[in-house]
Amino acid sequence: MLAFWEKIILPLLQIFGVRKIVEIGAENGWNTSHLLQYCRAVNGELFVIDPYPRFDVLEYKRLFHKEFHMLMDYSLEILPHLRQYDAILIDGDHNWYTVYHELKLIEAMASQDGKFPVVLLHDTQWPYGRRDMYYFPESIPPAYLHPHAKKGMEYGRSELLEVGGANSILYNALYENGERNGVLTAVEDFLKQTPLSVSFHQAYSNSGLGIIVPKHDAVDMQIQAILSLSGL
Ligand SMILES: C[S@@+](CC[C@H](N)C(=O)[O-])C[C@H]1O[C@@H](n2cnc3c(N)ncnc32)[C@H](O)[C@@H]1O
Repeated sequence: MLAFWEKIILPLLQIFGVRKIVEIGAENGWNTSHLLQYCRAVNGELFVIDPYPRFDVLEYKRLFHKEFHMLMDYSLEILPHLRQYDAILIDGDHNWYTVYHELKLIEAMASQDGKFPVVLLHDTQWPYGRRDMYYFPESIPPAYLHPHAKKGMEYGRSELLEVGGANSILYNALYENGERNGVLTAVEDFLKQTPLSVSFHQAYSNSGLGIIVPKHDAVDMQIQAILSLSGL
C-alpha cells in the first residue's frame, strides 16, 4: 500500500473529504502512520483491524490517542460492528473468501447507512490477483480453502516452485486461476452481484491497487487522471 500513498491514496482521501477510515491489515504500521497523520490534519479517526500487528500499538496510541483505534481480530469478525466509515483500505488476508466477504460486509454497511465508502484494495495483480494466499488458513471455511503450501511463485507459472520463488514463506494456493481464487476474482464476483452503483479502477504496478467508488462520471474522470499522472 505504501507505494501508492502519495500519488493515489492521499489525493483520493482528499477528493472524497474522507474523515473516518478503516484499515484492514497494518503489519509494520508504515501506511498506518501516514493515515494517522492525515486523520490528525482533518480531525478524523482511523480504525485499524489486524489480529497480529507488528508495530508498537501502545506507542501509536500514545502519539495519536484521539485518532487511533486498534481492533485486534479478523476483519470478518470486526466489520459487522463498524458503521459510517468514509474509506476502507483492504490489505489483510489476500484470498477470495476473505476479500469477497469483506466487500459484502461493506455493501451491507452502505445499504444501511446510504453511503458507499471509497474502497482501496491491495494485491489485485500478480501474484495474488488470481491466486489465494492465506495468512490464517484456519480462519477460512474448508469449502473455500484451496490446497496450499509454503512454496514460492514465478510469474507466468501456475504451479508453485519446489525451491525459491516469490513469497515462499507464505501459504500460497497450489494453482493460479479458476473459480473463487484470488483478490481480483473476488472483486469481479462482487461487482457482478452488487445492486449498488459503483465504479472500479485499477493501478497495475506494485502488485496492483483496486479502487471501488460510488459511480459518478466526473469523479471517475478525476480518478483516471490521478492514475495516469501517478505513473503507477
Ligand atoms: C500485507 S500485510 C499489510 C501491509 C500494510 N497494509 C502496509 O501497507 O504496510 C498483511 C497484514 O494483514 C493481517 N491480516 C491477515 N489476515 C487478516 C484478517 N483476516 N483480518 C485482518 N488482518 C489480517 C496480517 O496480520 C498482516 O499484518
